[in-house]
Amino acid sequence: MASQTPSEILERIGVTRIAFDKGEAGSREALIDYSRALIASLEIPSEFMQRTFWAEPAQSAIIRIAVDTKLFQHLQEAGSAGLSPSALSEKTGIDVVLLQRFTSHLVAMNLIAFHDGVLLATKLSNGLAADNYQQSIGFCYNASRPSFNGFPEYFKKNGYKPPTTSGTDGPFQSAHQTEKPFFDWLVASPPYLDYFSSFMSAYRAGKPDWFDFYPVESHMVEGFDSSISDALLVDVGGGRGHDLATFAKRYPSHPGKIILQDREPVIASVVESGAENPFAAQAHDFFTPQPIKYARAYSLHSILHDWSDDESVKIIENLVPALKRGYSRVLFNEIVVSEENPTLAASNMDMMMLAHLNVSERTEDQWRVLLAKGGLKIVKVHTCPGVAESLIEAELF
Ligand SMILES: C[S@@+](CC[C@H](N)C(=O)[O-])C[C@H]1O[C@@H](n2cnc3c(N)ncnc32)[C@H](O)[C@@H]1O
Repeated sequence: MASQTPSEILERIGVTRIAFDKGEAGSREALIDYSRALIASLEIPSEFMQRTFWAEPAQSAIIRIAVDTKLFQHLQEAGSAGLSPSALSEKTGIDVVLLQRFTSHLVAMNLIAFHDGVLLATKLSNGLAADNYQQSIGFCYNASRPSFNGFPEYFKKNGYKPPTTSGTDGPFQSAHQTEKPFFDWLVASPPYLDYFSSFMSAYRAGKPDWFDFYPVESHMVEGFDSSISDALLVDVGGGRGHDLATFAKRYPSHPGKIILQDREPVIASVVESGAENPFAAQAHDFFTPQPIKYARAYSLHSILHDWSDDESVKIIENLVPALKRGYSRVLFNEIVVSEENPTLAASNMDMMMLAHLNVSERTEDQWRVLLAKGGLKIVKVHTCPGVAESLIEAELF
């Protein structure tokens, strides 16, 4: 995006406000983008330095402490009465003088509020008090952040080249002093498998899901034929099943079975939790042949972006023999990078991929070529305003 003057950005904000007041999809996200652009156009370098290298790292460190001391939960419980600094100090165990310094920073960053001598929760801090965000903070602070912090040293050492796509010698391995690929490290390093599962369920929560903008009724439910297979939808690498649980709520009278697949330790944790789930759960390694034949649809949400082209082709090749021509669809819920208009959501995710898995996000052309190598053609790329991930609908050639 070409840089704009503050007045030009303010004008756009004014126009977008009308769309926001009407509740138009994508307008809230556009306002956030413009607000960021406005700050970039107003900030002088000294302010930029202070925000980026003091204010934001300090804020995330305090938030990490807030997880250990349940600071947001105590403020949430106090409701509109709030808590005095000394009452919050007693509950969190943080010395009152130190606590006041931490909370002043959180107030200055608009994360919590301070009024008439009491500290108050905000909608945002209450959201962060939920278990899945508390664990996500643990994942981002302790697993992701060391990897980002290590970028300068890692890339200097390797001559500023992209890491190999083996998944065993990237910034993540360097930061965590391991040779294990990311997903193996998660299993071997409790509690990070749990934290990562929470992170996956939380980081895009509140956004429309793929089944909110993919025509499920006309493309999946209509034409479902139980004489071909009783499987309506198989979520391949579906984590602990958050997508399928929401799908079942959205389509309570869907025909056929919905089936969750993931690695054995992930499925074991779903089974051990004892929760009543609206889906069947099956351990399946997607580098081995797909055991459920002829399902109406197979969804792979944020799967191929975790893998190199060669590995992704292997995943597709293990799925293709299970597809019934003219009936089965493969639904890849993935970021499609726009070269003309790169978004922060796409570049953010690309950096996460570099930090954890040594791979990168893909453009539509790259997706087309990759899927074709595995034997699939793109039927349509479905998108939704303000949603980072598209739904790439594919079928056999
Ligand atoms: C980025 S997460 C995506 C999870 C879920 N689809 C979502 O979008 O929230 C990648 C998932 O792939 C799973 N996974 C990694 N390697 C796998 C393998 N070889 N076979 C099956 N699942 C695997 C992980 O356990 C994890 O749940």
